[in-house]
Amino acid sequence: MDFYLLAIETTCDETSAALFKNGRELVSNVVYSQVDIHKKYRGVVPELASRAHAAKIAGVIKEALGKHKPDYIAFANGPGLPGGLLVGRVAAETLAMFYGAPIIGVNHLEGHLFACEFDGDKGLKALDFPLISLIVSGGHTELWLVKDCGRYKLLGKTRDDAAGEAFDKVAKLLGLGYPGGPEVSRRALEGKADKINFPRPYMNGTFEFSFSGLKTAVSYYLQGNKNADKADVCAAFQAAVVDTLVKKTMDAAKKFKVKNIAVGGGVAANAALRARMREAALKDGVNVRFAPRALAGDNAAMIALCAYKKIKGAKRKDDNIKIKPDMMLKNWGA
Ligand code: KG4
Ligand code: ZN
Repeated sequence: MDFYLLAIETTCDETSAALFKNGRELVSNVVYSQVDIHKKYRGVVPELASRAHAAKIAGVIKEALGKHKPDYIAFANGPGLPGGLLVGRVAAETLAMFYGAPIIGVNHLEGHLFACEFDGDKGLKALDFPLISLIVSGGHTELWLVKDCGRYKLLGKTRDDAAGEAFDKVAKLLGLGYPGGPEVSRRALEGKADKINFPRPYMNGTFEFSFSGLKTAVSYYLQGNKNADKADVCAAFQAAVVDTLVKKTMDAAKKFKVKNIAVGGGVAANAALRARMREAALKDGVNVRFAPRALAGDNAAMIALCAYKKIKGAKRKDDNIKIKPDMMLKNWGA
């Protein structure tokens, strides 16, 4: 008998619903992006995000569901913006009651990790463990040691700005559009990274990150160089971020003697990061997996896949439906 799992993602500024069949086939993944609402503020405005989720959630779910009846309902229960999380939870609970289906709460960051199992249009390819997970998005920059699905240890995270946030802020300094990541990486293609030497915030001896000083260095550079070539600034800034992310990830793989790396989150779509990480991994004999570009940013497909893993692995008892705005991945004693 076929079974269908409906997943909902509303943690930040994408309203998304996905339908997953038999734990392996993605039937739909509808993503409504709120970018047009937030771009004039060059950042996500939480109140506007909540309202847009409330306005769009029903239509997005209807489109994802089509004529199917879901057997399970999943939703991302954190971390995220409280208003969006409430919309996702209320939608999930209402549907669960209506269909008499069990409800599963999924950690959004765990979703970004397992988005790496989607293998383009070829379906799914399981991750090999243990692995080092780099999660790089607009809200998070974190390195995790993953011993298995459900067994996580946080190695380090950013002390200030997330990598995606730094891209967004540098784009703002340069008067480029929002979100900044895609704009900066497009401009960087026409620039020369070695024209400007921005600092690499390696935070030696830790697996922590810090990108706010780098953003300030770009700001000072622009103040002192009124006619700076924007493409060179983009290329040099991007190179500093990429060098930092690649070095710290490879250092973690070496330290924990791990031969697998997985990179997820919106910034994982960055072509320079993908190329440099692949190069470094090849040199060190490490396998690297990325979320497919279309599933690097926020989406409900990744929540569906994680929820299915929870159904399968009955030993996981954390499928609780309370929303947790600041929730980290749980440390499962790795
Ligand atoms: O994962 P995501 O969609 O949302 C969060 O959970 O935060 O990530 C969004 C972030 C934004 O900061 C955006 O600028 C960045 O990902 N981003 C990129 C690229 N595409 C999106 N950063 C660098 N290069 C890109 N190509
Ligand atoms: Zn995200």
